[in-house]
Amino acid sequence: MTKYGTFPGARPRRLRTTPAMRRMVAEHRLHPADLILPAFVREGISEPVPISAMPGVVQHTRDTLRKAAVEAVAAGVSGIMLFGVPEEAKKDAAGTVGTDPDGILQVALRDVRAEVGDDLVVMSDLCLDEFTDHGHCGVLDADGRVDNDATLERYAEMAQVQADAGAHVVAPSGMMDGQVGVIRDALDQTGHEEVSILAYTAKYSSAFYGPFREAVGSSLQGDRKTYQQDPANLRESLRELALDLDEGADMVMVKPALPYLDVLAKVADAVDVPVAAYQISGELAMVEAAAEKGWIDRDKAILETLTGIKRAGADLILTYWATEVAQGL
Ligand code: PBG
Repeated sequence: MTKYGTFPGARPRRLRTTPAMRRMVAEHRLHPADLILPAFVREGISEPVPISAMPGVVQHTRDTLRKAAVEAVAAGVSGIMLFGVPEEAKKDAAGTVGTDPDGILQVALRDVRAEVGDDLVVMSDLCLDEFTDHGHCGVLDADGRVDNDATLERYAEMAQVQADAGAHVVAPSGMMDGQVGVIRDALDQTGHEEVSILAYTAKYSSAFYGPFREAVGSSLQGDRKTYQQDPANLRESLRELALDLDEGADMVMVKPALPYLDVLAKVADAVDVPVAAYQISGELAMVEAAAEKGWIDRDKAILETLTGIKRAGADLILTYWATEVAQGL
């Protein structure tokens, strides 16, 4: 017993009594400006194509992508991350359409910039897997292995064409060694000193990317385990972080989000640059599927996942629910 009252002396429940009280003492709040919308644009379609493993998400036409960008701005979302889906016949071993100024991603970047100007931070995925016929994030050597340094040359070209097309931010997601440094050099040497780099710093080889493969029409031969990280490793992410910062990353990212909140927390503790987390396709699919079965409350589950990601240390969250959530906040 304490002299201040009857047992128990401390009652944390006092601060949970009413919605207004809980709101007042909330330690973390989601804000629309925390959110970035990843979006797919597909070449050669006249209607958006739903992605069956990602309920509510579509492959956009050029036109509906522009509309999605406008909607995101209106909702207060900070940025959009674009992924291009070329016509199947245009894919090749080198991912040539990824560096074609008229390739779908570059076209979409110009479209979105023309539509929203600087009202939205326009970002582009800088990776080859959407454009290669083998589905890997880089080019292959004679033995069929992903060739790190040959891939870097392709990434340098991609950085330039994406920046030329209007990207404010390029986001290398291929996990090649040295990618951030090579991209920084390429941008600086082509007059794009102001284009920033959001580095996929800790990117794990994850089963939760499954639905994304449908989203970009990629049929991967083999797996990505020689370049993406092993889910068993945490310390390795801090090494990747140090390298990316040294090479000039302006912002860093952890991906996926929910199974890697410990990594996110460690990374957020260690840096003085903005930290992003990517709530990926499989994370969306799990929530949508369970909700469709009536097993969980969809809207509450979505907010809980996003709040958890923020609490773990993310300043920015890439989520396919960005516009919807921002509208509701
Ligand atoms: C690579 C890339 C991937 C995702 C984003 N960028 C796929 C992969 O690494 O296999 C996954 C995003 C998601 O699953 O939502 N270009």
